[in-house]
Amino acid sequence: MTHYEIQGTRVPALGFGTFQLTGDTCRRQVLAALETGYRHIDTARAYDNEDQVGRALEDSGVARSEVFLTSKVWLDDLEPKPLARSVEKSLRQLRTGFLDLCLIHWPSDRFPLDASLDALQRLRSEGKIRHLGVSNFPPAYLRRACDLAPVFTNQVEYHPLLGQETLLRLCRENGVLLTAYSPLAQGAVFREPVLREIGKKYGKSPAQVALRWLLEQDRVAAIPRSSSEKNLRENFEVFDFELAGEDIKKIDRLPKNQRQVNPAFAPDWGEDD
Ligand SMILES: NC(=O)c1ccc[n+]([C@@H]2O[C@H](COP(=O)([O-])OP(=O)(O)OC[C@H]3O[C@@H](n4cnc5c(N)ncnc54)[C@H](OP(=O)(O)O)[C@@H]3O)[C@@H](O)[C@H]2O)c1
Repeated sequence: MTHYEIQGTRVPALGFGTFQLTGDTCRRQVLAALETGYRHIDTARAYDNEDQVGRALEDSGVARSEVFLTSKVWLDDLEPKPLARSVEKSLRQLRTGFLDLCLIHWPSDRFPLDASLDALQRLRSEGKIRHLGVSNFPPAYLRRACDLAPVFTNQVEYHPLLGQETLLRLCRENGVLLTAYSPLAQGAVFREPVLREIGKKYGKSPAQVALRWLLEQDRVAAIPRSSSEKNLRENFEVFDFELAGEDIKKIDRLPKNQRQVNPAFAPDWGEDD
């Protein structure tokens, strides 16, 4: 497992995503992920599964200090009081005294960013969160956030079929981790012949090639999700091979315009689109 050290904290480069995993499937999969060796788990208030993630963490017997746990505050809760209440609910449901990382799930022009970031900084000084960050922040928003607070990560969609050049540069300039969500393009990577062909060469699946391509980039973490134990184990088997330069170039050259997550409330994605 590769780790990054960001703001003095070690974070595993590969995490387990839990979007759309609910009920017992979620508990079972998070438990299987922890048994497999994942030590970085991503959830959100909006996923309606923190209770199940919390149960899995408890059932696993893995020490809380060994797991890097992220949750997120939804769009409607960005004013200081609702934000603090949202984090309290996360802590209760996750059965933990602190989040390793709390993210603003989506940027919003309805609320002042400085007030939300100040509220997160207060929670940090109270020990309820160890780090704060943002998600779905395009370059202009990220610049503002970095001017206002110590941003740990920007969690954004990133995979071989979507480019994030400007954000990557900005993250590296500001010491920010880029956490790649939907790293398998929600399944679209399996339809890409170039990834299949490269996979054959290494005896790896297109998912493993896509994850390896992300993890070979400096300051990029990835959080694939799976509802199958076999697949989550497969996604963990990406530290025993390296892509040759020519293969990285082939993936770099793929069209990078297949954004999967683009709800009506999404911001203008800006410079790379
Ligand atoms: N911040 C945000 O706004 C945001 C938005 C989206 C996602 N996220 C985070 O990022 C995580 C990952 O993104 P995602 O859930 O959108 O999608 P993803 O991880 O790109 O793709 C998940 C899909 O890939 C399939 N899959 C996974 N591993 C596979 C394998 N080895 N072989 C074949 N199929 C495989 C899964 O099917 P099976 O279940 O059948 O394995 C599922 O359909 C989320 O769970 C969430 O934690 C954050």
